[in-house]
Amino acid sequence: MNVFITREILASGLQVLKNANVSYTQWTEKRGLSEDELIEHCKNYDALLNAGANKIDAHFLQACHHLKVIALHSVGYDNVDITEATRLKIPIGNTPGVLSSATADTAFLLMMATSRKAFYMHKTIAKGEWKYFEPAVNLGIELYGKTLGVFGLGNIGYEMAKLCKGAYGMKIIYHNRHSNAAAEKDLGAVKVSFDELLRQADVLSVHTSLTPETKEIFNAEAFNKMKSSAIFINTARGGIHNEKDLTGALQQNIIWGAGLDVTNPEPMQPDNPLLDMPNVCILPHIGSATFEARSGMSRLAAENVVAGLYGRPLPYWVNPF
Ligand code: DGY
Repeated sequence: MNVFITREILASGLQVLKNANVSYTQWTEKRGLSEDELIEHCKNYDALLNAGANKIDAHFLQACHHLKVIALHSVGYDNVDITEATRLKIPIGNTPGVLSSATADTAFLLMMATSRKAFYMHKTIAKGEWKYFEPAVNLGIELYGKTLGVFGLGNIGYEMAKLCKGAYGMKIIYHNRHSNAAAEKDLGAVKVSFDELLRQADVLSVHTSLTPETKEIFNAEAFNKMKSSAIFINTARGGIHNEKDLTGALQQNIIWGAGLDVTNPEPMQPDNPLLDMPNVCILPHIGSATFEARSGMSRLAAENVVAGLYGRPLPYWVNPF
C-alpha cells in the first residue's frame, strides 16, 4: 500500500505511515503540481495526501477513482468537489481541531497589529522614515471593551472570541447558522443577524468556510454597513471577501483597517495596493504554521490515509457514506 504526498510534511505523519507499513513518496520540488501531473503521479498510488491548494475537482476524481482515500492536510476542503468524491465513493479526510489555537492566534495578532499599524510602522523604519516624534500622527485604536463580531463561530472563532474576551474584555457577537451554546454561556456571546454583525462590530473576524453562500459575502454592500472605525480580519479563505471592494472601502475610509492571512488570489502579487496601506497587515496564509499545529495536521492526515487504505472509517471524515 502506498500514498503520494504533494508537499513535504512533518515527521509525525510519516511515522504513522511507517508504523502501518504504508510506503510513501513526497513531492519535494518547490512548485505546485499541475492537475495533469498530479493525475499522472496518482496512477501509481493507492492514496493521496494533499497538502496545499491543488484542486481536487470532478476531472481529477474521475481520472483517479482508483484512490482508496484522499487525505487533506487542512481543515478546509473548499478545493474538493465533495459531491463527486461521494458519488465515486472516495473518502475525503481533513484535520480539524489541531490548528484552531494557532489560527485564532493569527487572527488576534492581525487584530492587534492592524489596530496599531504595526507592519507599516516597521516598514517606515526600514525606509529611513523614523525622523522625529509627532504626538498627533501614527495613532492607532485601542481594543479595550470594544465589540468583536465573529462570522462563523466554530472551533477557531471560539478560540478567537476567548482571546479577545480574556485580553480586552471585548463584547462578543456572532453570526452563525447554529447557536453556539458554549460561547453564549462561557463568553456571554450573543447571536445576531448578518446585518447587525456588520453594524455593531468594532472588529469583524471571519472564521467560516468558503462555500457558494459565503463567497464574496464581504463586498462593497457589506463594507458600507460597517463602522468607519471598524477593523476587518480574515484568516479563513480569501474568496470570502471581494478584494477590490475591500481595497475601495479602505481607500475611501469606509472602514478603518484590515488584517488578512488569506488573499484572493494567493500568492498576493507584490504590487497589490493593500500592501502599501498603513492600516493594513497581511500575512502569507500562515494561520496554522506552528510546529504544534502542523505536527498535528501531519499526524491526522496520515491517520486518515491509514484508515482509508485498511478499509476503516476515517477518523476525520468529511463525506461519510
Ligand atoms: C486549513 O487547514 O484549511 C488552513 O487554511 C491551512 O491551509
